[in-house]
Amino acid sequence: MDIVLSGIRPTGNLHLGNYFGALRNFVKIQSSYDCYFFIADLHSLTTHPHPTDFHANVKNILAEYLAAGLDPDKCALFIQSDVPEVSELFVLLNMLAYKGELERTAAFKDKVRKNSDNVNAGLLTYPVLMASDILIQRANWVPVGKDQDQHLEMARVYAKRFNNFYGVEVFPEPRAMDFGGGSIKVPGLDGSGKMGKSEGNGIFLIDDEKTITKKVMRAVTDNGPQTPDSEKPEVIQNLFTLLELVSTADTVEYFDQKWKDCSIRYGDLKKQLATDICKLTLPIRDRIMEISKDDAYLGKVVREGAEKARANASITLKAAKKAIGFRSL
Ligand code: ADP
Ligand code: TRP
Repeated sequence: MDIVLSGIRPTGNLHLGNYFGALRNFVKIQSSYDCYFFIADLHSLTTHPHPTDFHANVKNILAEYLAAGLDPDKCALFIQSDVPEVSELFVLLNMLAYKGELERTAAFKDKVRKNSDNVNAGLLTYPVLMASDILIQRANWVPVGKDQDQHLEMARVYAKRFNNFYGVEVFPEPRAMDFGGGSIKVPGLDGSGKMGKSEGNGIFLIDDEKTITKKVMRAVTDNGPQTPDSEKPEVIQNLFTLLELVSTADTVEYFDQKWKDCSIRYGDLKKQLATDICKLTLPIRDRIMEISKDDAYLGKVVREGAEKARANASITLKAAKKAIGFRSL
């Protein structure tokens, strides 16, 4: 069975963008592939999180993954730092990663521009660590957003480079996993394009009904359609894009018709959108609350996840070290 792997940095709570762009698909495929999903806690250290926040964020994401439907009986769910084989491969792959190519990475250049006071080596070698996550599990498929395409391409480069250099076939080349229908971009409701943590426009799985309603009712709109059948401006299309994700086809059709004949009332559309978002997220929220209280369960999940991930990782590490020439004395 093909291996699927993906990781998320624990830097805050999950929002609808994470849910529709990633998590929902992970839940769908977890029975059909040999899946490894993990929390990239080492990657999140580039920004030097406070120790208390660091721990809390890891725990939050884990509870949110489980509450959204990832089943530890079907997939390996683990914390990156619980698999030390990743860090060991990272050291080995660093010897084949060149400073020039790392400096040319778009994400690195962006970080240098935005945070010139914290350009640490961890940022520079971020793609090597990510390649280690992927290659150590011999992943065939990696579901990631567009912003990670270049990092995935680098994982392919390191896989090929290692295999060629040592004349072995230790690492399969990982490919981007597409869930069909093109990759979804969940918009923000502030008119600024994508929903994201750093955009500060997230509707979170952990938000309560009041918060969700407030966020949706505040969504940016315009003066309404002036001529029948006109094209929707971006801010209005954003509302419809979200509606298509959370509401029934009938509901979407109803408001689309109202748009076309210029009788739409944005207040009604927003109320419906808030109701349908709540219908989806409130049960998940209840489960997050429930699961977060159960430290014994959370501990068991990540221990078993790490055990499976380490078992698979050690096979790869052994083969890689043998290829390099490590021998026991
Ligand atoms: P953020 O943009 O909030 O920092 P991350 O970059 O940590 O989120 O993304 C984690 C996962 O969620 C990735 O697979 C990414 O593609 C997906 N994702 C994040 N925001 C969106 C969005 N607005 N639409 C679709 N997918 C998204
Ligand atoms: N860099 C990814 C992100 O920021 C997270 C990540 C770390 C990852 N290791 C990975 C994703 C391995 C896929 C595979 O979203």
